Order: sequence, then structure tokens, then C-alpha cells
Amino acid sequence: MPHPTAEHEPFPAGWSHRHLLDLERLSPDEIRLLLDTAARFKEATDGCRKKLSVLAGRTIVNLFFENSTRTRTSFSLAARRLGADVVDFTASGSSLSKGESFIDTAKNLEAMGIDAVVVRHSTPGTPHLLAQHLDVGVINAGDGPHEHPTQGLLDIFSIRERRGDLAGATVGLVGDIAHSRTARSNLWGLVKLGAKVILCGPPTLVSHRWRELGVEVSHDLDAIVPRCDVLNLLRIQFERQNTRPFPSVREYAHLYAMTKDRLKRAKKDLLILAPGPINRGVEVTADVADCPQSLILDQVTNGLAVRMGVLWLTCGPRVATGETAARPAAGRIV
Ligand code: NCD
Repeated sequence: MPHPTAEHEPFPAGWSHRHLLDLERLSPDEIRLLLDTAARFKEATDGCRKKLSVLAGRTIVNLFFENSTRTRTSFSLAARRLGADVVDFTASGSSLSKGESFIDTAKNLEAMGIDAVVVRHSTPGTPHLLAQHLDVGVINAGDGPHEHPTQGLLDIFSIRERRGDLAGATVGLVGDIAHSRTARSNLWGLVKLGAKVILCGPPTLVSHRWRELGVEVSHDLDAIVPRCDVLNLLRIQFERQNTRPFPSVREYAHLYAMTKDRLKRAKKDLLILAPGPINRGVEVTADVADCPQSLILDQVTNGLAVRMGVLWLTCGPRVATGETAARPAAGRIV
């Protein structure tokens, strides 16, 4: 493990977690610390391009049981940019198909001397279960409709980078709130940082019960657009639905797609976000997805920064010093 050098900031005090499982249970200060760490990595890597070696000698395993383009690639690249080795595990070609249990599979990977597991699974709570059984860092890359903490962080990072403090900002999360892990992680992170959150979509996908968490619920996109500083446009998660929650995609798009017409009625500096994959013409029209206010590709770049920060906080200095306690030892980024 290379020695830290003096010109960069020390490992931040205030981080005491071995894993990143969700944003719901993090404090506002812990969320700020994750965002600040990501910002430092973005700077130290010249906008996420340059390689560092702070995780040299570490091995990260991507354990993905659901499809992924951005998240898996982003975790792999982030780990490599920090000098770690990465192994991509694919369930279909593994001994899971021979009847091996999920925990046994994971324990076998652990026995090969890995340092962290990045897990995506359709069952909510899978990362939490792994964290109970493994003695390595566990990072949730999406557990069913429950949470997707690094997506929530990268969305918030992108907003913060553009407009500064989140406090007082009005953020509309639009679309399939019922099945979106991105919506949940955004919701927890945004509320903790003092933003006002409006959940918007058809009643079949946005329950009025969300109001119990202190957020606003709306079924009328036209009514909320002029009030929002940020709109995060979420995909309809057809793969998680047994029945169609609306009569037709065309009708949905008519009511809930962000269009150029709707953009005309928005604040001039409205920011447009979408976690991807985007379905052009369903939750957002092509001209809005590609307009100057769209942060969609910035989000992808910032995903690298966030994941570098998360990997460093979960499997960096602590292992380097042989410390096994939850709190990492002091160290430096480079
Ligand atoms: C999200 C996911 O997988 O939950 N996408 C992502 O991670 N980039 C959102 C989605 O699939 O709609």
C-alpha cells in the first residue's frame, strides 16, 4: 500500500461505517462527508480521469444479479482509478445454478481474500444480509425497489455541484416512485440535507402515504413544474410490476413526460436529472434530455467520483493499517 503524501487532506473524521447499505440510516453529516470525499476525489483525479493508487492491493468484487450498464461499469472504473483489482461475478455462469446458496457463494469469494463486495440484487435487504455474514465491506448497488445509495449520492452531488447548498431547494422526483430505489435514496438524502421534496406521478405509482414522511405528493406535473429547482425523471420500472399501473405508455407520457413545452413554464435555471437508462419519449423527451439544463451525463461522471469516495471509505485505510474496528484509521487520499 503506497504511503499517503502530505499534500492531500487526511481521512475524514466522522465516518464510522464498514458498509454502505442505504441512506436512510445515515446522518446529514455522514451524507455531507460522503459528498465532500467524492468532491475531493473528483479534484484529485482531474475530473475522474487520472489514476491514483490508494487502493492498490485491494480486490473489489462486483456481485450483480440484475442488469446494469452504468452502475457496474462505474464501480469497476472507480475501483481501477484507485488502483484496486476488480472481479466481475456473473450469477448465470456460477455454481449458484448448481444449487449453492447465495451466502455460501459469497463466503467462498470472501475466502479468496477480497476486500469489498458491490452487490445488486432484486431482493430488498440482500446487501444487509451479506453484511451480517461477511467480514468485508458491502456496498449496496441497488436492492430491488428498496435503495440505491450511490445513485442517490451522485444525484445529490450533481445538484450540489451546480447550485451549492441543497437547503431550501425544491426537488421534484417524477415517475414510478412505488418501484424506484433511486427515488427512495434521493428522498432520504435530500430531506436530510434540507431540500423540499415533491413526489409526482400517477396515483397508482405515488401513494398519498408518502406524506407521512413530510414530503409533498402531487399527481399533476404541470402544477409542480414552475415551483421546482430540480426535476429528477425516473423510469417506469416495468420489470417490477405485475400489472400495468396506467392504461397506456402514450397516456403516461402525455401526463408525466418532461417536454419542451413544460420546460417553458419552468424556472430558467431548472436542472434536469435522470438516473438512466432513459426512455426517450416516455419520462423525458429527447430535446429535454439533451438540453443545456440537463445534467444526465454529468451524473454519470459524478458517479465515478461518488464511487471512488465510497470505495475508499469502506475498504481503504482501515485494512491498510490492519485495523478491524469499524472506524477507519487516519490516512490520506494520495
Ligand atoms: C437505476 C437502477 O438500476 O435502479 N439505474 C441506474 O442504476 N443507473 C434506475 C433505473 O433502472 O431506472
